[in-house]
Amino acid sequence: MTEHTCAVLVEPIQGEGGIVIPPDGYLEGLRRMCDQRDVVLMFDEVQTGIGHTGHYFGYQHEGVAPDVMTLAKGLAGGLPIGAMMAKPHIAEALGPGTHGSTFGGNPVSCSAALAVLRTIEDEHLLQHVQEIGAHFVEGLKRLQKKYAFITDVRGRGLMVAAELDRPGGHMVVKAMERGYLINCTVDCVLRFLPPLIITQQEVDGLLATLDTIFAEE
Ligand SMILES: Cc1ncc(COP(=O)(O)O)c(C=O)c1O
Repeated sequence: MTEHTCAVLVEPIQGEGGIVIPPDGYLEGLRRMCDQRDVVLMFDEVQTGIGHTGHYFGYQHEGVAPDVMTLAKGLAGGLPIGAMMAKPHIAEALGPGTHGSTFGGNPVSCSAALAVLRTIEDEHLLQHVQEIGAHFVEGLKRLQKKYAFITDVRGRGLMVAAELDRPGGHMVVKAMERGYLINCTVDCVLRFLPPLIITQQEVDGLLATLDTIFAEE
């Protein structure tokens, strides 16, 4: 940060970067640094937001609130939508037309977003994400004991990763052939961001499939 810094933008948990969970106190430290220098703190909650970590927003795990927050992906359950939220002292700088987009706020996507929020509440999905995420991580840790090439297993809610000592791209292809869409980021991190409604049975099916894929290494 220099005197030319006006804002800091971070993901509370890096998604594409390999599900990197910051150490305790990191976001709090950023908040303090920004406050001391009158710098705006912005959180990109596009992956962490809308329940994926077991809270509505990733920052709630640390109780550190941003000045500006972005949302997209899960907000409308797959329909295209993006949103930016700002505290009032920042929002007032954005007059009509300065934060526009041709299809921003379109009624179909907004209606889907409202349905997503209602469903999260009605079906107690935040609680479900916490429980099923813990079950998923436990299962991956069991696989880690069996396969030494899994160097780390980490997650928060249903943002889960297994880090490997080797590239994992071919495992993604094998999983797809067996009916599971998973992802590999930064070359060697298998990243799992399943829908919030995934069941224990489905997680167990994935774990069993991963076991067969890992056994082929
Ligand atoms: C953390 C994060 N921020 C922002 C984006 C971009 O979002 P959008 O495609 O809605 O512009 C992505 C997309 O993958 C993302 O993962």
